[in-house]
Amino acid sequence: MSKPSLLFVSSEVYPFAKSGGLADVAHALPRALNAEYTLEVCMPLYSFVEREKYAIQKRMEHFDISMGGVHYPVEIYGCNYEGIEYRFIDSALLCEREYMYGTPEEGYADNALRFGLFAYAVVALLKEEKQDIVHLNDWQSALVALLIKEDTSIKTKSLFTIHNLAYQGIFAHSYLHALDLDTKHFAMDAIEFYHQISFIKAGIAYADAVTTVSKRYAQEILTPEFGCGLEGFLKHHKNKLSGIINGIDTEHFAPAFSDLKGKAQKKKEYLKEVSLRGVKKPLFVFIGRFTWQKGMDLFLEALESMAAYECNIAILGQGESVYTTKLQELAHVHKNIHLSCTYDESLSLEMYGAADFLLMPSLFEPCGLNQMIAMHYGALPLVHHVGGLKDTVQSYKDFDDTKTKAYGIAFKSPNLTAFLGAFEEALELFANKREYNKILKHNMLCDFSWDKSAKVYSKLYKIITQGEKL
Ligand code: GLC
Repeated sequence: MSKPSLLFVSSEVYPFAKSGGLADVAHALPRALNAEYTLEVCMPLYSFVEREKYAIQKRMEHFDISMGGVHYPVEIYGCNYEGIEYRFIDSALLCEREYMYGTPEEGYADNALRFGLFAYAVVALLKEEKQDIVHLNDWQSALVALLIKEDTSIKTKSLFTIHNLAYQGIFAHSYLHALDLDTKHFAMDAIEFYHQISFIKAGIAYADAVTTVSKRYAQEILTPEFGCGLEGFLKHHKNKLSGIINGIDTEHFAPAFSDLKGKAQKKKEYLKEVSLRGVKKPLFVFIGRFTWQKGMDLFLEALESMAAYECNIAILGQGESVYTTKLQELAHVHKNIHLSCTYDESLSLEMYGAADFLLMPSLFEPCGLNQMIAMHYGALPLVHHVGGLKDTVQSYKDFDDTKTKAYGIAFKSPNLTAFLGAFEEALELFANKREYNKILKHNMLCDFSWDKSAKVYSKLYKIITQGEKL
């Protein structure tokens, strides 16, 4: 029997383009599925993607896509990188930009057209390649689910994954025409959202199955607190909604040490490199985008008090300039805060290796990968117990070494008292070396790979292609 075919669509894929966890998932999940499927991963060929480095070459002669009476030239490129087949959509409108979605402050004004065009191009590819399953990710590819339901010649089944409900792809009603969408779709049970159009609603309404990236988040988004206005709509589609926890690519995230001695050496090297003093002091790191979602306001509120303790704090990331400026001010005043305002994958790996604790005070977190990477690298995560952070990090107070669960420090409400309380717990735990090391060693042996979750996706693909009811 031939293998089922799968097209995995994402607006970002590591190492070609990355702004967050989606790129890591789009890199790692297809690898875990590759043996079982005839598989391709599809993304836009942004102008900054390094074509030569990855031997990206033209795969299909140029063709036009027409939307709203305008013709847009499109080309399909491809490469095989580390055993995975990639397809890239190239079009000036979509790809000739400095950033993928917009500046850190705001999205590009024509994103509806850009990602509308992306969706139409994916549909053209599906027509050509006749895949069994298309796996769509986030609002940027959500429209594909609607377009293939409209075209009876396409038999492909679709699965739509929500990585972050806070980003929905909401645009003016007038784009309906520019995107060639029938006015019948401008309805509450389709893509209309408060008199505008919502790309993410297309994914939720028309995909054969909808998933999000942890079980807890799948529950949370049915409530007004986390539903971002879509809780009612999601409840309506609850039967086809489920949560599948992300894994990490343990080949990529592979610590260069296997014991605590090796880790201590990494810490020493890193501290020296960034001129932080005191190997004996606990090293806290924050790695991530500087945005409200990641709990930046809370982190900034707490940072001054934290820096007053005997500890070091290293921060790596990029994001909104209000946050960057405040971080720079604090790093300037406090000698035990080190700030790197950049995106640097290899530096982040060094920091996970060196860190004693990872700070993750996210207001909400669909899954979160950093806490898993941290535990794998022997750093204890200090997290707000929400979404995927709750599913992947158990409180060290409930430690049980016979269980496959991993542990860290958790606080329940995202406020200053709770966060600083957890921080003080971390300092106490660190002082109790026996306890601290026991948890660390246990975490480092836990399985954070994609193996289990890839099987759950496989099962779901099978269900939708066999037309079973969810
Ligand atoms: C988004 C979410 C994050 C998740 C990632 C990958 O970035 O905010 O929680 O881990 O997608 O699914």
